[in-house]
Amino acid sequence: MPKHPAEPFRIKMVEPIRLTSSEERKQAMIHAGYNLFSVPAKDVYIDLLTDSGTGAMSQAQWASIMVGDESYAGARSFYRLKEVIQDIFGFEFFVPTHQGRAAENILSALMVNKDSYIPSNMHFDTTDANLRARGGRPVNLVNDQAFNISAIVPFKGNMDVDKLRKWILETGPEKIPFGCITITNNAGGGQPVSLENIKAVAAIYHQYNIPFFIDACRYAENCYFIKLREPGYAEKTTKEIAREIFSLADGAWMSSKKDAIVNIGGFLAMRDEGLYQKVCNELILREGFPTYGGLAGRDLEALATGLYEGLNEDYLDYRLKQTAYFADKIREIGIPIIEPAGGHAIYLDAGTLLPQIPQKEFPGQALTAAIYLEGGIRGVEIGSVMFAHKDPETGEIIYPKLELVRLALPRRVYTQSHLDYVADILQEIWEKRASFHGYCITYAPELLRHFTARFEPL
Ligand code: F0G
Repeated sequence: MPKHPAEPFRIKMVEPIRLTSSEERKQAMIHAGYNLFSVPAKDVYIDLLTDSGTGAMSQAQWASIMVGDESYAGARSFYRLKEVIQDIFGFEFFVPTHQGRAAENILSALMVNKDSYIPSNMHFDTTDANLRARGGRPVNLVNDQAFNISAIVPFKGNMDVDKLRKWILETGPEKIPFGCITITNNAGGGQPVSLENIKAVAAIYHQYNIPFFIDACRYAENCYFIKLREPGYAEKTTKEIAREIFSLADGAWMSSKKDAIVNIGGFLAMRDEGLYQKVCNELILREGFPTYGGLAGRDLEALATGLYEGLNEDYLDYRLKQTAYFADKIREIGIPIIEPAGGHAIYLDAGTLLPQIPQKEFPGQALTAAIYLEGGIRGVEIGSVMFAHKDPETGEIIYPKLELVRLALPRRVYTQSHLDYVADILQEIWEKRASFHGYCITYAPELLRHFTARFEPL
């Protein structure tokens, strides 16, 4: 078997992309306030900003689009999706949402107040912000190895169960409306969580009567990592592994724009009928009637088809090997990355690569800008721009432990030669690394500032 297999699909529709000139990119960046979120996609050559909603749907998904039932209430497409969600996740109740953060908003609106603390391995930015927007405190209790960039650990997304138990006792279970785990751990390198860890976390939450919710965006990649790495799971199918994971939880939400390979869509699922009724009321207020939840019938169909495709083991094998191929190329250059390669992205360690730039001058932002200016490649900063925040009690700025740049791989979109091009550009970045400077922020909103902040080079 070749180490890096070719794509298990062929291309029958193409979308042209164009490499702009260095001068065009400079102008685009000045115009965008050096924020890659503000650069028009037409000025990006290889877009690794996110793996969310950027995947290529299959012929079967496009065919599903054509049979979408657009009825306001009780659409056939809703019942098909309900069957698929029950088959894979096993939850009694669910509502569609237009994407993941809509589900987070509903859950936060119903369960979080200013006295709430919500633990997870690591909350992603929208989850963190939705909890804070309701006055809650998100708390990250991932194992310490997650911050050791070079440690080769099979399940680096695991929660530290001793820390969790101790923290619950200190905080008081009555202040914890629900507990989470994110699979895979996006904010910590796209690293998987083991089933053993999920079992232990579920047992602790349940010991203290804390409902357990899973942030399931990339659950299928997590399932395949379990199959490959966790003793006892090699012979299980990814669907069997998924069933086992979700049987341990009281609910889950999914941004289906990731492992269900759709351009839009999500859901919130649960076992508690009382909660489901409240969720429906909140959904009607903000998203739509419970059988469409802000999506078109055709989106529900594409999602139902995509959920199975995202679990397909030939696809997952290619998917994780593509990420590993990319990691191998970058490692050869000498650029430090979070090891081992995660599922959906490679995370460059900008803090280590650019030691001349202190955290308050945003090394991740500097690296993201350099990669774009050099080669028209768009990544995303996952460091102090995204996560530094003021302590609400002391007013002190708390910096994240790592300054990262994420290069996310859209699903079924880029080929190996695109990744080779990115590696060539990173080689040039490596050679010029001592010449890069930091940035200052000239505008930023209070929450989720990375999306709209503006910068100036120092
Ligand atoms: N949870 C995780 C772990 C995520 O990665 C995301 C989105 C969400 C929740 C929110 O879902 O975007 O559908 O509202 N992550 C994207 C990313 C945006 O680029 O990692 P959403």
